[in-house]
Amino acid sequence: MARQDFYVNALDLGTSQVRAVIARCHAEHGIHLLGAGVRPSEGMRKSIIIDSGALTPVIRAAIEEAERQARREVRDVHISISGAHVHGVTVSAVLNILEGDDTITPAHLAELMEKARSNGAEKGRECLHAIAQEYCLDGHSGILNPLGKRAARIEAAVHLISGDHTMIENHGRTVNEAGFVVQDICFSVIAAGHAVLTDQEKKDGVLLIDLGGGTTSYAVYHNHSIYYANVFGVGGDHITNDLALGLRISFAEAEETKCTYARLLRMSESGENAQRIKVSGTDRKARMVLRQDVEMIIDSRVEELLQFVRDDVEQRQCRARITRGVVCTGGVTHLHRFLERAEKVFNMPVRIGIPQLFSPHDRHPGFAFYAERLEHLRDPAYATVLGLVRYAAINELTARETRKSWWQRLFSLS
Ligand SMILES: Nc1ncnc2c1ncn2[C@@H]1O[C@H](COP(=O)(O)OP(=O)(O)OP(=O)(O)O)[C@@H](O)[C@H]1O
Ligand SMILES: [Mg+2]
Repeated sequence: MARQDFYVNALDLGTSQVRAVIARCHAEHGIHLLGAGVRPSEGMRKSIIIDSGALTPVIRAAIEEAERQARREVRDVHISISGAHVHGVTVSAVLNILEGDDTITPAHLAELMEKARSNGAEKGRECLHAIAQEYCLDGHSGILNPLGKRAARIEAAVHLISGDHTMIENHGRTVNEAGFVVQDICFSVIAAGHAVLTDQEKKDGVLLIDLGGGTTSYAVYHNHSIYYANVFGVGGDHITNDLALGLRISFAEAEETKCTYARLLRMSESGENAQRIKVSGTDRKARMVLRQDVEMIIDSRVEELLQFVRDDVEQRQCRARITRGVVCTGGVTHLHRFLERAEKVFNMPVRIGIPQLFSPHDRHPGFAFYAERLEHLRDPAYATVLGLVRYAAINELTARETRKSWWQRLFSLS
C-alpha cells in the first residue's frame, strides 16, 4: 500500500435498498472503488428504522458482498441518514476577537461554528452539519472566505442540519448490532451532492433532489454552501401504492409494472403506439390495463411530489439562488419520462445526477471515482453511497492536513 493510501467504507441505509461501498483513496490518485454490495432493505419505512432485527442481516449481507469483491474486511463505516425528522435552519453567531492579533484563523471559525451550533441547539435533536453561508466582518457583510482577513467582530449566518436524536441513535445502534462501528453520519443529500454536483453548480446555485423509495430529500446549494435543506416522507413507494390501488394489483406487481413500464410499453401487442399493457391482478389472472391509466397515476404522483419540493423552496425565498437549475438523483429518476415531468414542474433546466466513473487506467483531474467491473454504480440511485465515500475521504484528507500542519508547527518544519 502506498504510504498515503487510506480506505473508506460507506453504507447507505435506504428504505428500498441497503448499499455498501469500499474504496481506496489517495489525495492525488483519486478514489478507487474496490467493492460494492446491495440488498433489498428490510425493517425500514420512510428512511426510519422500524425493525432493527430485520435490518441487521441485510446490512451484513450488503457489506459482505462488498468485502468479497474488495478482498478486504470492514469494521468502520460512514453512514447516510434521511427521514422527515431531518431538516435545516439558518442561525447566526457572533465572535469578538478580544485579545492579540485580530487576523482570522481556522480556530476562530471553529469557535464561531460552535457558537452557531449552541445557538441552534434544540432538546432531543442532534446537529449533523453546520455550514457557514456568509460572514460579516466589523459590519461589512457578504464575505465568503474570511480567513486571513482582520476584524474585531465576526458574524456568520450558518445553516444547521439536524435530526431527531433517538432516530440517529437507532441508526448507530443497528449498525453496531450488525457488527460494525459508525465512524461518521452524513445527511443523504449532502452525500449525494459530493457524487453528482459540479463545483460550478455549487457556486452558482442548484437545487439537488434525491428521490428514494420512502423519502424525497433536497437541498439548495449556493456559494458553495447550503441555504435550505429538508426531507419529505414520501417517495417512490407512494407511487407504487397508488398504482396498486388504482389498477387493483398487488404492491409487488405494481412495483414491477412501475419499474418495467417503458419495457412493457415496447412489448405490448400493438407496438409503439400501444394503448394497453399487460398486468396480472391480485387473483393472478393476466389482464390488460389502459396505458393512459398507468400514465395518469404515475404522472400525477411524480408531479405532486416535485410540486411540493418546488413550493417549499419558493416559500423559503430560495428560488432566486437556483440559477443552474435542478439536479435529481435516486431510483425514482428511472421512471419513464421523469425528466420531462420535472422540467414541466420547475420550468427550468433539470438533469439526472449520475455519478461519473472512470477506468483505473485513465487520469482525470479532481478527486474522481475510478472503477473496474462496477459499471452498475453509474446510476442515480448510487449517488448517496458514492458521495458518502467522497465526503468521508475529503474529511480524512482535511484531518490529515490539519494534523500535519499541527505537527509541522510543533517542530518548526515549515
Ligand atoms: N427502473 C425504475 N423505474 C422506476 N422506478 C424505479 C426504478 N428503479 C427503482 N425505482 C424506484 O426507486 C425507488 C428506490 O430508490 P432508491 O434506491 O434511491 O431508494 P432508497 O435510497 O432505498 O430509499 P430512501 O432514500 O427513500 O430511504 C423505489 O421506489 C423504486 O421503485
Ligand atoms: Mg436513498
